[in-house]
Amino acid sequence: MSSWLRRKDIDRITVHEEGRRLARTLGWPHLVALGIGAIVGTGIYTLVGVAANLAGPAVLLSFLVAGVVCACAALAYAEMSTMMPAAGSAYTYSYAVLGEGIAWIVGWSLILEYSLVVSAVAVGWSGSAVEFLHGLGVALPPSLVAGPHAGGLVNLPAVLIVFAVAGLLMLGTRESATLNAALVVIKVLALGVFVAIALPRFDTANLQPFMPYGFTESTGPDGVKRGVMAAAAIIFFAFYGFDAISTAAEEAKNPGRDLSIGIVGSMVGCTLIYVLVALAAVGAMHYTAFAQSPAPLALIMRELGQGAAAKIVAGAAVVALPTVLLAFFYGQSRVFFVMSRDGLLPRSLSKVNTRTGTPVAITLFTAVIVAALAGVARLDEIAALANAGTLAAFVAVAACLLVLRRRDPARPRVFRTPAAWVVGPVAIVGCVYLFVSLPHRTQLWFLVWNAVGVVVYLAYARRNSQLAKTGHA
Ligand code: ALA
Repeated sequence: MSSWLRRKDIDRITVHEEGRRLARTLGWPHLVALGIGAIVGTGIYTLVGVAANLAGPAVLLSFLVAGVVCACAALAYAEMSTMMPAAGSAYTYSYAVLGEGIAWIVGWSLILEYSLVVSAVAVGWSGSAVEFLHGLGVALPPSLVAGPHAGGLVNLPAVLIVFAVAGLLMLGTRESATLNAALVVIKVLALGVFVAIALPRFDTANLQPFMPYGFTESTGPDGVKRGVMAAAAIIFFAFYGFDAISTAAEEAKNPGRDLSIGIVGSMVGCTLIYVLVALAAVGAMHYTAFAQSPAPLALIMRELGQGAAAKIVAGAAVVALPTVLLAFFYGQSRVFFVMSRDGLLPRSLSKVNTRTGTPVAITLFTAVIVAALAGVARLDEIAALANAGTLAAFVAVAACLLVLRRRDPARPRVFRTPAAWVVGPVAIVGCVYLFVSLPHRTQLWFLVWNAVGVVVYLAYARRNSQLAKTGHA
């Protein structure tokens, strides 16, 4: 069989040799917290302004579009991850259902997604932290808080937060997940404070004109794509993160029940919070007043004369954004781990530390790459590119759902996606439409990244695949 099409055996997917297995330490509250921890972050705290700038008050529709697409993808993830409770997420499902070639491309896209989200959020966190310290009278040298593109040398706080989170992960998964749960409460409470203050100030005059740039994306004279769909393609960043839970499948105590609760629960919870936050934001103030701000929610609080609430919202972003880092970092190291266990990346990377049960070498390797990126990267462009990688993974998972329903209808499904033949196609078409709505440069970079990936596959991964060598992986 062509290497491109060879597949893992679904029934053997959770069988691994001693020393390359992860410890089962996570219950469903941890998984829901991991999901919300990964979802609520830079998207709702910062990109809500960028998106409003692209769509006007109709950014509410952008939230709706991105939310519906993500909800459909989340249902597909819930069915796949409970059927194949192994680390590796979309990569592993694709390996078992669509073949090694597609799985490689999905894994390669996940590496892009997870690294760029970690880097982007680290840069975003650095901005908030510098602001916060400034408020306390502590000024850091400008050359050490920005990358070369912004006239600095290196973004040191971004580099440091990456290593701090990597250190937590190396201490052991459970400890980090417990801290994550506490931080999740803080950032959700801060959004609650925002909604409680802004929503009563809702004024329909702020919603005029509702859709200044139309629905389908259109490119203006400045070369910038605008409209509800262009904004949806960006604000999509705010919604994902639930997929990171599926990478924890091998560490879940009771994967069947807990994973579906974690994935669907965190997605539904966050969508409700987002709708309220977006409604409160565009209703309380005309979007042009906050669209350009790096901290739009805090700005709205300040403009409404609520200085204390502005500090709470800004402070919560500093304290709680690391939960996004934690979840994506965790997902990233697990995807690397599984790809190397499968032989597609060097095998030496998949050794698990016997004391903590975590893959220490791979976590450190990931930290070095992601920190280097965070030290010099541009926030706005990398968020869009992270979205492209995520969209590719979502398309693959929805395709796995449909292919398996047709190929293996009798296989027990712990979680059954309702109306799969509506949900699956909506997820696929929606993701493709969002991809088309991304900036042209982002699409180009995504293709370049995957062209490099195909070369690596042909030159290294194909030959070293455990599946090819042993007949199973
Ligand atoms: N959804 C995550 C965020 O908004 C990636 O930061």
